[in-house]
Order: sequence, then structure tokens, then C-alpha cells
Amino acid sequence: MSDAGARLVERAEAVAERAYAPYSQYLVGAVVRTVDGREFEGVNVENAAYPLGVCAEKSAIVAAAVAGCRPGDLAAIGITASPCGGCRQWLYEWRIGEVSFRREDGSIATSPAADLLPGAWSLPE
Ligand code: THU
Repeated sequence: MSDAGARLVERAEAVAERAYAPYSQYLVGAVVRTVDGREFEGVNVENAAYPLGVCAEKSAIVAAAVAGCRPGDLAAIGITASPCGGCRQWLYEWRIGEVSFRREDGSIATSPAADLLPGAWSLPE
């Protein structure tokens, strides 16, 4: 566990207070850090048509993309909870080197995105 990862998770926990989750009441926050030190925040944003909701990790990556970032530009992400399967595919595509999240026991896990999705699918060349 890196101190930088713990700091990103703590930032994500503050950001999670701004999640829009009136249906699940499950607030998630994420903060991505770029290789050049910028940070982008994300929260989960739910919708009355439940499957249309978006996860916090995805909204943080979307914010980075809007600012011009591309895969390889994101060094690390801190998340308030273990990323879901779909978000792991996003983290993999964006080649995030250090993914840190709070485990249920309160400890912080840190690993490369690729390690969180063994045998990941990629578009055939
Ligand atoms: N959620 C995330 O934001 N990230 C994840 O990786 C897992 C789940 C959100 C989606 C939904 O708004 C709420 O948590 C409950 O599933």
C-alpha cells in the first residue's frame, strides 16, 4: 500500500459525499491522478431507469477524457470501494498503473489495473 494511494482513497471518500445515489443510498467516490499531477473527481450518478446509472470510476475517467487525457495519461486512481467488473474493464483500457481502494475490512489495496482483470478481453488487432 502506497501513501499516495491512501491519500487518493481519502480524497475519494470526501468526494463520495457528492454522489447522486437516491436509489441504492450507496455513495461511491473516485479520484484519478494524471502522470503530470492533475486530479479528476468522479461520483456515481444513478437514474430512475436503474441500468442507466454510472459508476464513480467511470465518471472520473470521463472527466479526465473531457480534459484531453488518453490511455497512458492516468497514473493512479483512488476509489472508496472495490471496483465492479465493468469498471475493471475501464481501468484496464486506461492502463492505470496504481489502483487503490478501501477493502471492507478498512485496509487499502493497491495493484495495477491489469492485475484486477486476469485474462482481460481486448479488441482483436
Ligand atoms: N458503484 C460504483 O460507483 N462503482 C463500482 O465499482 C461499483 C458500484 C455504484 C453503482 C450504483 O450507483 C451503486 O454503486 C450501487 O451499486
